[in-house]
Amino acid sequence: AAGYPIAIDGPSGSGKSTVSRQVARELGLRYLDTGAMYRAAAWAAQRAGVELTDEPAVTAVVRAMKLEMPLDPDQQVISCEGEDITAAIRAPELSRVVSQVAVNLEVRAELIARQRAIIAAHPDIVVEGRDITSVVAPDAPTKILLTASEATRLARRAREVRGSVAPAALAATRAEVSERDAKDSTVASFLEDRDGVVTIDSSQMSIADVVAAVRALAQGSR
Ligand code: C5P
Repeated sequence: AAGYPIAIDGPSGSGKSTVSRQVARELGLRYLDTGAMYRAAAWAAQRAGVELTDEPAVTAVVRAMKLEMPLDPDQQVISCEGEDITAAIRAPELSRVVSQVAVNLEVRAELIARQRAIIAAHPDIVVEGRDITSVVAPDAPTKILLTASEATRLARRAREVRGSVAPAALAATRAEVSERDAKDSTVASFLEDRDGVVTIDSSQMSIADVVAAVRALAQGSR
């Protein structure tokens, strides 16, 4: 199928994980969550007792890291160094520090190489992240930038992480999200368009609508 791989980038709260998994399910494709790989890298460095600002030490840990990424959209148990880290890598404390690891260019090179190897072995895949359309798989026939207004992204994140969109929950979430996006945009320009990348603004769309739009693009580029 020439419409694959499908590369999807977007900021946090854009809905890209939900959409990417659903597209993979519906089209019978594999699914790779590259954000989880950066989260695993931060987890591994912390477990090794390494300061996240100590770039050479973090790089050494990540190069040696035994990480098993699930590629089934319905089975997303992530295992690192033999431990189930599925829940641990979603903890707010880890979300706060993951960008520190993601700005390490040697870490990025290592994870990008692993991502490319997975894509080469399984081209029938939906890959989501921040730099997939630009760096990891710029030749993917289907490339999508999923965006949403700041208010929409904030409300989605607050609901997801705090189970509430009350003012206090929104304020706390705003601090986290904007800080992380600001850090992330120093390494990958996921907030702007480039050639061959179709932008979908999901602010006024349901998940089903976005999934249908992505499917149509993949099928159209076949
Ligand atoms: O998508 P998710 O929120 O799980 O990503 C966690 C972090 O991993 C991001 O905030 C970013 O720092 C990093 N990341 C990245 N490049 C990717 C995917 C994620 O730098 N392709």
